[in-house]
Amino acid sequence: MEIKDSQIMITGASRGIGFAFAKVCAENKAHLHLVVRNSDEQLSKDLMAAGAASVTLWQADLANKKSVEDLVHQITTLNIDILFNNAGMLTGGLLEEQSQEEIDSMLQVNVASLIQLTRALLPRMLQRKNGKIINNASVAALMHFPMASTYSASKAAVLAFTRCLEIELEGTGVSTLLLITPGIKTRMFDEIEIRYGKNIKVPNLSISPYKFAGMIKEAVLNDMRVLEPHGLTGFGLNVAKYLPKSFAWVVRSRFKR
Ligand SMILES: NC(=O)c1ccc[n+]([C@@H]2O[C@H](COP(=O)([O-])OP(=O)(O)OC[C@H]3O[C@@H](n4cnc5c(N)ncnc54)[C@H](OP(=O)(O)O)[C@@H]3O)[C@@H](O)[C@H]2O)c1
Repeated sequence: MEIKDSQIMITGASRGIGFAFAKVCAENKAHLHLVVRNSDEQLSKDLMAAGAASVTLWQADLANKKSVEDLVHQITTLNIDILFNNAGMLTGGLLEEQSQEEIDSMLQVNVASLIQLTRALLPRMLQRKNGKIINNASVAALMHFPMASTYSASKAAVLAFTRCLEIELEGTGVSTLLLITPGIKTRMFDEIEIRYGKNIKVPNLSISPYKFAGMIKEAVLNDMRVLEPHGLTGFGLNVAKYLPKSFAWVVRSRFKR
């Protein structure tokens, strides 16, 4: 799948990983469709200046089901080549201390809206036998830490949804790319320490959003199905996957209620 001249829709493009990937796509002369909570003309200007072939802003609050439905009505007729379901919200803390309202918003942003937008754009991708759906999960989908129960559950849902779709779409010309995203130095990364740090020693390894955006670009160009971390985080991920009891033992030693 090419990036140049492609029609690329990115959610959560205002900052962090979404913005970094939008910039990489702009530098590669893509047409950008950015889903943002608040309209931001400066964002369009910056990305046009970076080389984008065009920038269209789509305003939606992904925590609001009605707002997502309105967006869906507007975008179903678009010929999008790449959908990057990236927007996300962090929740965390001891479960009894988390607000139900916040958990509901997070599940709507991280899971429900991702499924709604995929359903909206998939029929046209299938008709055209061309498309890529990139879903931003997290190492939290597989590495289970206390304090992260609700957020991890949302990312495990993204992982399962994407793996089911991957097989469902074989031979159609449409494919998925699952991001098992490690620590990326964004506002969300800084929030992890604030929300979880009181009770657990949080690993603080991270890479820059631009480095990660470059890795996503390579994964798209090489038609990869999954992008997993390397290095120490990759090692931890493999322990969580293949030696879950050992992983849980280490995690317990870092947690204090
Ligand atoms: N950073 C990490 O270490 C890390 C690790 C694993 C996975 N991830 C995943 O990567 C994705 C991007 O995270 P990030 O680190 O780039 O976080 P970030 O800097 O906090 O950016 C989050 C993005 O999501 C958007 N968003 C949040 N709630 C929204 C809503 N209700 N409606 C519309 N947009 C909304 C934000 O828009 P506003 O500007 O309007 O708030 C922002 O553009 C998330 O899915 C996250 O779970 C991140």
